[in-house]
Amino acid sequence: MNTHVMDKNIGETRLDRATQGVIGKPLDRFEGPLKVCGRAPYAYEHLLDEKEIGYGFVVTAGIGKGKITGIDERAAKAAPGVLAVVSGDKILRSSAQPMSPAAQTVDGEVFHYGQPVAVIVATSFEAARHAAKLVKVSYQPTDGRFDLDKVKGEGRKSDQGVMPADTERGDFEKAFAEADVQFDQTYTTPSHHSSAMEPQASVAKWDGDKLTVWSSCQLLESNVKQIANGVGVPVEKVRLLSPYIGGGFGNKLGIGPDAVLAALGARAAGRPVKLALARPQVYQATSRRSETIQRVRIGTTKAGKIVALGHEIIATNSPGNGFFEPAGVSSVFLYAGENRRITHRLAETDILMTSAVRAPGEAVGMLAFENAMDEAAENLGLDPIEFRRLNEPDKDPQDDKPFSSRKLMACFEEGAKRFGWDQRPKKPGSTRNGEWLIGYGTAAASRKNQMMKSSAEVSLSPDGRATVKTSMTDIGTGTYTILQQIAAEMLGLPVADVDVILGDTDLPPSSGSGGSWGANSAGSSVYVACEAVIGKLAQRLGVEADGLTLKDGQAIASNRQIPFKEILNGETLTELGTIEPGKTDEDYTQASYGAHFCEVAVNAYTGETRVKRLLTVAAAGRILNEKTATSQCYGGQIWGIGSALTEELVVDTRSGLLVNHDLAEYHVPVNADVPKLEVVLLPEHDPYASPLAGKGIGELALAGVGAAVTNAIYNACGVRVRDYPMTLDKVLAGMPADIDDAA
Ligand code: MOS
Repeated sequence: MNTHVMDKNIGETRLDRATQGVIGKPLDRFEGPLKVCGRAPYAYEHLLDEKEIGYGFVVTAGIGKGKITGIDERAAKAAPGVLAVVSGDKILRSSAQPMSPAAQTVDGEVFHYGQPVAVIVATSFEAARHAAKLVKVSYQPTDGRFDLDKVKGEGRKSDQGVMPADTERGDFEKAFAEADVQFDQTYTTPSHHSSAMEPQASVAKWDGDKLTVWSSCQLLESNVKQIANGVGVPVEKVRLLSPYIGGGFGNKLGIGPDAVLAALGARAAGRPVKLALARPQVYQATSRRSETIQRVRIGTTKAGKIVALGHEIIATNSPGNGFFEPAGVSSVFLYAGENRRITHRLAETDILMTSAVRAPGEAVGMLAFENAMDEAAENLGLDPIEFRRLNEPDKDPQDDKPFSSRKLMACFEEGAKRFGWDQRPKKPGSTRNGEWLIGYGTAAASRKNQMMKSSAEVSLSPDGRATVKTSMTDIGTGTYTILQQIAAEMLGLPVADVDVILGDTDLPPSSGSGGSWGANSAGSSVYVACEAVIGKLAQRLGVEADGLTLKDGQAIASNRQIPFKEILNGETLTELGTIEPGKTDEDYTQASYGAHFCEVAVNAYTGETRVKRLLTVAAAGRILNEKTATSQCYGGQIWGIGSALTEELVVDTRSGLLVNHDLAEYHVPVNADVPKLEVVLLPEHDPYASPLAGKGIGELALAGVGAAVTNAIYNACGVRVRDYPMTLDKVLAGMPADIDDAA
């Protein structure tokens, strides 16, 4: 066992020397062709050759809150092709909370509209879906809390978040009251849904008391525990596989109800079962992002120095769930200010549970806070970039820790130059092209960096090829290719000579994909395993590992050049590597940073916004693959356009129904909504963050980007809407009456 605990600066490594020259290169994902040719099996596509297989379909609740008084399964059981009907207390009420071992069960209650209450297994999908309609569920409905406006005053403090509910320093109230200039506004953001292309889906197969599940999951190590817990078997009896995943975005951090229902259905039907959630069930029976109400107060000196910074957040969740959207996560360290208060309160509603959706916290917290920074700058008569420069801290303003690396201002400077920020219309509503009002906006990006414990096995076989094995997932981010590049660079092999096997709990336990920690954590475990393999090679050659250069499958030491095949002499070298976060995690504030620049055109007569240009400059430590890192940023930028303009999960406040529960009604940007995107990655090296000197980038570009869009809307037409999304009706309502005069 080779373990590296990240206790100190990693110093110079083989990745810096880059003898093989593949680390960071914009390589295509090698599994891409498999995916487009249908040769990369997603969860539902396993066991295609199984002779006898059952198809599951979930029956969901038709009320928002109450007790289940009876389930009449007779008609469903008598329907053609039906093999089994399973109902009762073991049914999962929604997804499991990320990393919690517990799977939440129904226990005879309806907690939210669309909650699973039973599952049908039949000989075909159509037969199962038909029978699902024949199940008669009777209820005793009770009053549900479906309206945030009515419960927002009842917020409680939760200690089950991913950050402390409260972070305070100095005397915020006093400093704010005494500040020369005070800014105080409240912003609201709606619920969001991850809307991954691949729905939650599982195939379950029993072999005696052993259970194998193929499911679409981000974090296999906690997901397998959730499945075992939900089914009621020891975790050692369960194997979970998730080799290819069609997007997760937080919605698959915990198992969906499908995994346990497929397993229970398979047991009842006596054959393997495949079960996919229908699209409306993906929206109503998994998890969603919390609505938020955010009060931002910024007290400054006349010159614009922040003396008091307040970000007070109300988020929502359902009974039994302590997770709160950590919307203040970046407000803790992003800007200077001696007196600070960041608080989170949780208001309870009887709607589908809330959980992590891409960039939990920053994604909506920075919509509000980066609008507030723009507004406060304007009140002070300062350029928004200048205002940020004035309040750039030289250490963490909350706890005085040093930053491990931080290029926020460098991102703003580079972006301003490339975008032509000096061309920004000086006065809102002052630049017009026919009926379109033109505006520029900017906002910061930041995403807290995390590295998680993770293990991988690397072996070098007699033919000179290497294999990487870990239970890590690739949710579409490029993990397969990135791990291949790391192993190839470390071992001095062409990338084509490295195989990567992922997504199976029989492999060494990994961090899984989430929180932008995947590449850095799993990649570091591959680094550690490779170091150990190199140590063995050096031993065989009788040299120090440090003096060993590896390139193109050969070891070069003391003027000798020997092919791996020769050194291995028919044997395979296999090493397990584990990375663990250590002292650098406690001693340094670690985050990735960026700056967004956006140009919009707002229609003077309809209020419609078109995004014309979007540039993100980001710095996230060493970039492991320039193409996949850039693609992650494109995804964040596109999502940000949606959060700014259209994205909103609408709750029917009478019933708790999530109204727009499909991709026709839940408006994510389509091609016509997205201009040519530009992403620039600044070179950076963070030796405290990981052995790779990299930081997370997956969720960075989403953080703040929607605020750059809405700040641009203000610059275009002078309308501030503080209630997301900024749909045309809201923008039009604020449009100055004399807008025609400007024409
Ligand atoms: Mo991410 S929302 O942690 O998958």
